[in-house]
Amino acid sequence: MPRRTQALVVQHVSAPAVLADIDLAEPRPNEVLVRITACGLCHTDHLVQHGGIPSAFPSIFGHEGAGEVEAVGSAVKRVQKGDSVLLSYATCGECPYCTADRPAGCARFFEKNFGRARDAAVGDEPVARAVETGEPVYGSFFGQSAFARHAVVSESSVVKVPQGTDLVQLAPLGCGLQSGAGVLLNQLKPSREDSVIIFGLGAVGFGALWAAAHLQLRTIIVVDLVSTRLDLALAQGATHAFSGASPTLLADIRAATSGIGARFAIEATGVERVLKSAWDAVCNFGHVVSVGNPGPGVKAPFDINDHVNQSKTWSGLVEGASNPPIFIPQLMQLYEQGAFPVDTISRVYPVEQYEEALAAMKSGELIKPIITF
Ligand SMILES: NC(=O)c1ccc[n+]([C@@H]2O[C@H](COP(=O)([O-])OP(=O)(O)OC[C@H]3O[C@@H](n4cnc5c(N)ncnc54)[C@H](O)[C@@H]3O)[C@@H](O)[C@H]2O)c1
Ligand SMILES: [Zn+2]
Ligand SMILES: [Zn+2]
Repeated sequence: MPRRTQALVVQHVSAPAVLADIDLAEPRPNEVLVRITACGLCHTDHLVQHGGIPSAFPSIFGHEGAGEVEAVGSAVKRVQKGDSVLLSYATCGECPYCTADRPAGCARFFEKNFGRARDAAVGDEPVARAVETGEPVYGSFFGQSAFARHAVVSESSVVKVPQGTDLVQLAPLGCGLQSGAGVLLNQLKPSREDSVIIFGLGAVGFGALWAAAHLQLRTIIVVDLVSTRLDLALAQGATHAFSGASPTLLADIRAATSGIGARFAIEATGVERVLKSAWDAVCNFGHVVSVGNPGPGVKAPFDINDHVNQSKTWSGLVEGASNPPIFIPQLMQLYEQGAFPVDTISRVYPVEQYEEALAAMKSGELIKPIITF
C-alpha cells in the first residue's frame, strides 16, 4: 500500500518548492521508510532546483535529513523500525571503494546522489506520485529527498543514532559540515604545529574550522567576505581572520605564517579566483584541498611550472572522505563536548516557512536553515 504524505515538490527547473500530497511507494529490499523530523537546507538543493546540475522533474530535494524509521525493506541490515537516523549521501555498496569502507569514492557516486537512481531492484520506477495528477515525482536525491514528511531512503544513506539524539540540530551533519571537518580529520590529519587557512565560512568552512580548533592547530586562518562570519570564527578558535576583499590578503597571510605561507589551505567557496589565492597562500610543499565546486567545465587557475617548482599539492575531496556510519557519530560526540557547535550557525523553520528559510540562506544572513516537518 502506498503511503500518503506531503513533500516539497518542484514541478520543473526553477519552479518553487510547493508542499503537496504524494503517494510514496513501499520501500524496496534495500530501502527504508523514514518519518522525517528535520532536514538542513544546502546550496546544492537550490543549485539543482535551478538546473545547475541536470535532474529529473517533478522532483523532491533535501539531502540533510533526520528522522525515525517506520518500516524497512526485506534486506535492510543497518536499522529497524523505531530507530532514530541521520541521513547522508548514497552509495552503491558494491564497488571496490564501497567494499573497502571508502564510500566517498563510490564508482556510482554521481548516479546515486544526483541521478535519482533507486536500488537496482527498483528499476526506473519513481519513488512517489503526485496525488492530484497521478504523475511520477522523483525522489532519491542523495538517496533521500528529505524535504518531506516521509521519505523512502536508500539504506546506504542511513546512519543509526541513539534514541534521544537531537534530530533537528544534528540533521545537517550529513553533507557540508562533514565535508569540511573530514578534510582535516579524515584526509590531511595535520599535527598541532601545522597551519591551515580556510577560505569561505559557510557550513563547509565552519565544519573545517571546528575540526581545526579541536585538533588545536597552532595557526588557523579564516577568510570570508562577511564580517559577522569572521567574528564568529574568531570566537570559535580561529587565530587570524581576514577579508577576502583585502588588497593585502596574501601579505597578511604570509605575515601570520613565518613569511612563507600556510601548510594547508581548504577552498570552501567554489570561486575560481579564491582557489588561486589559496594556491598562492600555501608554502612550498603545501597542500590545497578543493571542497568548493564551481561546477562542470572550470579549469584550475595555476601554472604547472609553478606547481612543480614549488612542490605544491592540489587535490579535490568529496564528502570529507567520510564513511558516514563511522564519522557522523564522531561528529555527534564532538557536538556533545561543545566542539562542533552546529546550533551557532543554524536557525529552525517549520516547512510552511521554507521560502523564508531559503531567502535567509541566499542573502547570506543565515548559514544553515533547518526545515522541520
Ligand atoms: N566537496 C563536497 O563534498 C562538498 C560538499 C558540500 C558543499 N560543497 C561545496 O563547497 C562550497 C561551500 O559550500 P557551503 O555550503 O559552505 O557554501 P556557503 O555559500 O554557505 O559558503 C561559502 C562562503 O564563501 C564566502 N565567499 C564567497 N566568495 C568569497 C571570496 N571571494 N572570498 C572569501 N570568501 C568568499 C561566502 O561569504 C560564504 O560565507 C560550495 O561550492 C559547495 O558546492 C562541496
Ligand atoms: Zn560504490
Ligand atoms: Zn549539501
